[in-house]
Amino acid sequence: MRYIGNKENILDKIFSILSKHGVSGNSFFDFFSGTTNVAKFYKKKGYEVHCSDVMYMSYCLQKAYIENGEEPQFKTLIQTLEMSANGSLFATPLEIVLEYLNEIPDVAGFIYNNYTPSGTKDLAQPRMYFSDENGLRIDAIRTQIEDWKNSALITTSEYFILLACLIETISFYANVAGVYAAFHKKWDPRAVKRLNMRPIEIIPNAKSHYVHCANSLDLVNDINVDILYLDPPYNERQYLPNYHLVETIAAYDSPNIRGVTGMRDYGNKKSSFCNAKTAIRDLEYIASNAKFKYLVLSYNSEGIMPQKQIISMLSKYGNVVLEEFEYLRFKSNNNGLAKTKKHINEQLYILTKYE
Ligand SMILES: C[S@@+](CC[C@H](N)C(=O)[O-])C[C@H]1O[C@@H](n2cnc3c(N)ncnc32)[C@H](O)[C@@H]1O
Repeated sequence: MRYIGNKENILDKIFSILSKHGVSGNSFFDFFSGTTNVAKFYKKKGYEVHCSDVMYMSYCLQKAYIENGEEPQFKTLIQTLEMSANGSLFATPLEIVLEYLNEIPDVAGFIYNNYTPSGTKDLAQPRMYFSDENGLRIDAIRTQIEDWKNSALITTSEYFILLACLIETISFYANVAGVYAAFHKKWDPRAVKRLNMRPIEIIPNAKSHYVHCANSLDLVNDINVDILYLDPPYNERQYLPNYHLVETIAAYDSPNIRGVTGMRDYGNKKSSFCNAKTAIRDLEYIASNAKFKYLVLSYNSEGIMPQKQIISMLSKYGNVVLEEFEYLRFKSNNNGLAKTKKHINEQLYILTKYE
């Protein structure tokens, strides 16, 4: 998934740097989990994984990728609705269910009514986040998943797996340049293709893993892990405005919305890491109160917390090493419509706590 600060392309690099410094153990907490890519990586390495994020969309991904450890069988659903594979003999139960969802009748609901051109035709500027057809598909699929959960045809873990499939799928059809802070005024060819649900990767694993939808600061006193990995926002841009529509599809809570973009209110999801002063204050709160062997802060050379301040503050709690490497990044401009390539320095601050 395209997500600001997504670490997908540098996971191996991060792992090799941390290994070089002896940062290892049995448990790993991905404290600002976003797409869950870092948590997934450490789950595959055999760690007991914990993760948290303030966004509900991230929580859905956490439940599906991290907490769940087995291939979903959808037994009750498949038996009750007598579903069968039309396409392939070897279709998994998840693929059978997604195939079914791809064919259910359209529904004109919250997404069609607020984020498609026909649904918003009375606005001065009709919204073009999704084509009419795909708005109807999203409402149909999202409503169906909720109905199945309410009538106990799917388990909680199957519910979140389907939500994760929908969250991952919509990014292939949204008429945006990566973030939802603006929509294109012309159709991107991807956005006019009919939406087809895509299966997510299931990561089988017998261990227990723990996931949270929370402000990480509220979890600090309950933490006791080997590696506490922090990947907070690094500039003033809050996450919710950039992903408001994904959050709304995940929660499907018909929020009050406003403005040209149909933004939901996000007062309770503002991050203190988007302000230099509160960021360093809260980083210190985490470093001083959480129990860990190693704290790793992923940051970069453009971050709002000054390097000197980070190092001098963290040094109060243990030995600090800073590792940097260059990374080519796509950078959106303010309204998210232009993209330029930019080299920045990724940074890993590694704090080994005093015994
Ligand atoms: C840089 S992104 C993390 C990217 C992630 N490592 C990945 O690979 O996808 C920062 C994340 O921190 C979350 N966030 C910001 N402030 C938070 C807080 N106080 N508590 C929990 N999550 C927070 C944002 O919602 C966002 O998902």
